[in-house]
Amino acid sequence: MKTVKNPETISKSLKKFKLKGKSIGFVPTMGALHAGHLSLIREAAKENKIIVVSIFVNPTQFGPQEDLKSYPRPIKKDLLLCQKEGVEYVFLPQVKDIYPRGFSTYVNVEGLSDLLCGKARPGHFRGVATVVTKLFNIIQPDTAYFGQKDAQQAMIIQRMAKDLNMPVKIKVIATAREKDGLALSSRNVYLSKNERKDALVLSKALNLAKILIKGGAKDTGRIISRMKQLIISKKSAKINYIAVVDPMNLKPLKKISGDYLIALAVSIGKIRLIDNFQGRLY
Ligand code: PAF
Repeated sequence: MKTVKNPETISKSLKKFKLKGKSIGFVPTMGALHAGHLSLIREAAKENKIIVVSIFVNPTQFGPQEDLKSYPRPIKKDLLLCQKEGVEYVFLPQVKDIYPRGFSTYVNVEGLSDLLCGKARPGHFRGVATVVTKLFNIIQPDTAYFGQKDAQQAMIIQRMAKDLNMPVKIKVIATAREKDGLALSSRNVYLSKNERKDALVLSKALNLAKILIKGGAKDTGRIISRMKQLIISKKSAKINYIAVVDPMNLKPLKKISGDYLIALAVSIGKIRLIDNFQGRLY
């Protein structure tokens, strides 16, 4: 496994494989790798000859009050995990390589970026879209892999790749969960023992919604209010949003019909967690 810090060096190295017709599968990450990332890497390995993982805690996607400084950076452990998974290249750029002095070009996927998580985190998706564009330009992957847990991020990246004719296929992989249902997230490590228990309320609320829909519920207002009741029964939980939306455009749905996405963001203590479920009613 090779670890490369310099963008030009990795571009050059990967070009050789491209010229030989070897496909490149790319998993962009901010590190603190968990089983969710590993499932993306494994999917990439099934479909590609060369696997590239980037580890870069991207400052432009953090708000001024967010956890950029304290974001976990267990780099040694991350590199070991990549090695075990048979990753060929880990791209580990520094902030100055990605955002050199004078950097002033940003990518903004309009509309989609201001909804749901974008409301509470202004500028977040602009930072994501910008860094992912840069990473795509540097790595030039055939396919890039993202997790369904960040459903809005995955949609924005798909939209961006389509709108800007980026020559990359985007694949979205099912959310990896703990045995008890908690969606894996690099931020779960911040949860105290009690908060970890309370955090289960996100997946439980989604399960409740699934049961209600299976039982014939269609009114999204009612479904959301039942989810709210369940979540606020936990003292440490503070709802940021619960939304039932059209997964094509993230616009709110009044009634469940056809494809729907139920997404929620809830702070457990100080830790903001997200989860979602995408379904279809025939
Ligand atoms: O999902 C993430 O870890 C990040 O948002 C990403 C896609 C690596 C961009 O920094």
